[in-house]
Amino acid sequence: MKYRLLAPGPTPVPDRVLSIMSRSVVHHRTPAFERIFADCIQGLKWVFQTDDDVLALSCSGTGAFEAIFQNFFSPGDTVINITGGKFGDRWGKMAKVFGLNVVSVDVRWGDSVTLQAVQEALKSHPQTKAVVCVASETSTGARHPYEQIGQEVKKLSDCILVVDAITALGVWDIQPERDGIDILVTGSQKAMMLPPGLAFLSVSKKAWALSLTSKMPRFYFDLAKEKKAQAQNQTAYTPAVSLMTGLQESLLMMQEEGLQNIFARHARMAKATRAAMQALNLQLFPKHPADSLTAVCAPDGIKTNGVYSGLRDRANLTIAGGQDELKGKIFRIAHLGYFDELDILTVLSALEIILKQEGYRAFEPGASIAAASAILEEGFRPAE
Ligand SMILES: Cc1ncc(COP(=O)(O)O)c(C=O)c1O
Repeated sequence: MKYRLLAPGPTPVPDRVLSIMSRSVVHHRTPAFERIFADCIQGLKWVFQTDDDVLALSCSGTGAFEAIFQNFFSPGDTVINITGGKFGDRWGKMAKVFGLNVVSVDVRWGDSVTLQAVQEALKSHPQTKAVVCVASETSTGARHPYEQIGQEVKKLSDCILVVDAITALGVWDIQPERDGIDILVTGSQKAMMLPPGLAFLSVSKKAWALSLTSKMPRFYFDLAKEKKAQAQNQTAYTPAVSLMTGLQESLLMMQEEGLQNIFARHARMAKATRAAMQALNLQLFPKHPADSLTAVCAPDGIKTNGVYSGLRDRANLTIAGGQDELKGKIFRIAHLGYFDELDILTVLSALEIILKQEGYRAFEPGASIAAASAILEEGFRPAE
């Protein structure tokens, strides 16, 4: 069977992007590379919907977070971190490694943080330098109300909002200025339709002001140095050149589709997948699901490892299982980036077969396809 990568990252990469990346490597200290880089930054600002600086780093998303902790804070600074999943938990652990005073707003995995919980934490810790929030917690499929937190943080002159939008940017409408986000982060291997290896972040003026007093040691991820180099369409060190050429092409594809159409496609695929799970009598795991992926609870008596490995070994199709404490308890169907309506129908068809083989029969054959098609049909428009 054909290999189908339908996970929440890495996500599939379009042939157009792959073929550009297979060309000869351009030297990075040349006008040719500078033109590519300039195009990429302009395109990124368009996707980020911001006039703030947008930087491109050669690392995965976690590297961008390391850069944030190194460049905007000093040891002992207080940051409020929202937990509730593998990635929320990761940023708290990382901040502690850098000697920050981490105030944890604890959220049960699968739940979303409440504005009130963050307001209370801010009230008890008025010296807080940042609130760190994950927009789409990929490990649980939950969406957090970062934009409500943003309106709160906007009122504070010395506190910034850092948002992990690694599986949210390019999925739904996020606007840093409108949403009160000072640092917005994403990675190449999600909605940007690229292989792993690049991270992007926008930085507000308020955040740059905070960086001036930062006493954290840093070298490779020196964002002031990157900002200076990138303003000249260069990077401080050798960038992942082939990924940048791929980015130029993936941004072009995104521009051809248009942001509003991209958001509508993701919303449609998410709505269809949720309806399909309901038609299969399966329970969604998060209370407030993000549009980037659908996390589903294992039906009684069925191990999700069986569903996940069945799809992998019998259908050559990669979705995602549960991570850490959710291992064996949920499976996750992705719908972000280079996914379309037929990808969803493919996953659903294979899922029905594997569920049946694993002994789950509490559904009418084809029920998920019927439920999803009714919603996905909107995406099959006649060419204009
Ligand atoms: C929400 C979220 N944050 C952070 C990460 C970590 O990013 P990376 O694996 O690119 O370091 C991921 C990766 O899946 C993610 O989904």
